[in-house]
Formats: sequence, C-alpha cells, structure tokens
Amino acid sequence: MAPKFVENAQVVSNEQLASNIWKVVLSCNQTPDAILPGQFVHLQVDGGCKAMLRRPFSIMNADAENKTIDIVYEVKGAGTTMMTKWQKGYTTSIIAPLGNSWLATLPEGEDSKISRALIVGGGVGAAPLFMLARNFVKKGISVDVVLGARTKEVHVMEAPYRTLDLNTLVCVTDDGSYGEAGFCTIPAVRLINENSYDYVGTCGPAPVMKAVADAAKEKAKFVEVSTEERMACGVGACKTCVVDTVNGKVKSCDCGPVFPAEVISW
Ligand code: FES
Repeated sequence: MAPKFVENAQVVSNEQLASNIWKVVLSCNQTPDAILPGQFVHLQVDGGCKAMLRRPFSIMNADAENKTIDIVYEVKGAGTTMMTKWQKGYTTSIIAPLGNSWLATLPEGEDSKISRALIVGGGVGAAPLFMLARNFVKKGISVDVVLGARTKEVHVMEAPYRTLDLNTLVCVTDDGSYGEAGFCTIPAVRLINENSYDYVGTCGPAPVMKAVADAAKEKAKFVEVSTEERMACGVGACKTCVVDTVNGKVKSCDCGPVFPAEVISW
C-alpha cells in the first residue's frame, strides 16, 4: 500500500458548481503522485471547536504534474459550510491517500482482461469514479457511463466526463429537467441487459448501488461499489465507518471504501 502523507495543502480555487455543490482544488507536494482512483483524503476543515474532526472526501482527480487534487463536495453541515468560505491561499492539513482503490478487490491480473466497462454515478458519487473512467479510456477499454442527479441544476459531473472519449454517456435527472427522466438505475439496468460488461463500478446512494449490483451480478464478471460512510478518524481507529458485509462488520476506511458488490449486506 502506498505511504500516507500528512501535509499542508493550499487552496488553488474553490468554486460553486451548483446551489449546494462546490469544487475545491488543493495544491500539495507529495499526495497527488500516490493517489489511485477511488481513494480519499481526510482533511481538516477548521482548527476551531466547531469542526475539530477531520472530514473524508473522495478525490475526483489527482494531477501529478501540477501537484493538485480536485474534490467535489456537497454542503451538508457546519464543516462543509465552512469549506465554502475557503479562499485561494487558505491552508489546510490533509492525510492521504486513504482507503483502497477501484479494481483493488479483483484477483491479481484480472483487471487487464477488462475490455468493456460500465460506470454508474449517482449525484456527487460520480466524482470518485472519474479517474477510473479516465484510466479505462487510456487503456483502450470501451466505457459506458450513466450519471444521475436530482435536477439539471445539480447535474454537475457531466462536464469532466465529456472530456473523456467514452463509448456512451447517459445523463439522467430524477425530475426530468435534463437528459432522461427518472433514476439513473433505469438506463444502467437497460445497458446491463443490452450489453456484455466485464466490469461494473458504481458509487452513490445505497439504493442506486444495490439496484445496479443486483442487475449486474449475473451479467458482469466484476461489480464493485464504493461505500460512503461517515468517517471520524479515516485510519481504522474509531469504528464510525462500519459496513455490514457477508463476512461481518468491517471498517470502510480500512477495508474499503471499494468492495465487491457481492460482499455487501444491503
Ligand atoms: Fe475511524 Fe473508519 S473512520 S475506523
């Protein structure tokens, strides 16, 4: 496993993408080189008493050349509200890279046999799948992507995925204000039934992941999900991130966040 770094990262930009969704770009010296798709960062939101605990965030992109990482975050509470106040030059402490990565649960060498993949992201759950999709495309793997969001206004993950040479990109909104109407599980299940995928990866709300996993379990060779549990310590010490699996309760920060779909007790 790659070494973990604790370092001070500086805000390069902090941009509002939608009413409650922001993207922060952090400049850091060591972390970007080591990050694998699907890993996360634990960052200090504020040193004061309002948000003393670090918060986990999925990494959307790591740029080893420019030494930056991109994080797309949803404003949900005091900590993420504080983050929206971060200005260029603000410094925060980060621990990374944390967790396993996409494809880490596959038997050794099996990832090289993937020739067609489906990626399904619900809401900001599409962010940690971005680097995986990009790596697949770089390897010449045919990639279909389904991106879901509640409304057009919060459908913010399309732009980065549009930069990739995907086979198919299906956009869906719950209210039908953009793309197909309904949940992203509808086109995802349709694609699973129409095609033969070696690999399906999904991240987002649990019902989305479960529906995709159920549809894909007999059809795709490998199905992985990334759990998004609350994490107080991020390094296996506190047990706030426990996930129920067929092997009992396991710590998501330590054994995940990526799991083979078949081991999750939905
Ligand atoms: Fe503390 Fe996982 S976050 S054990």
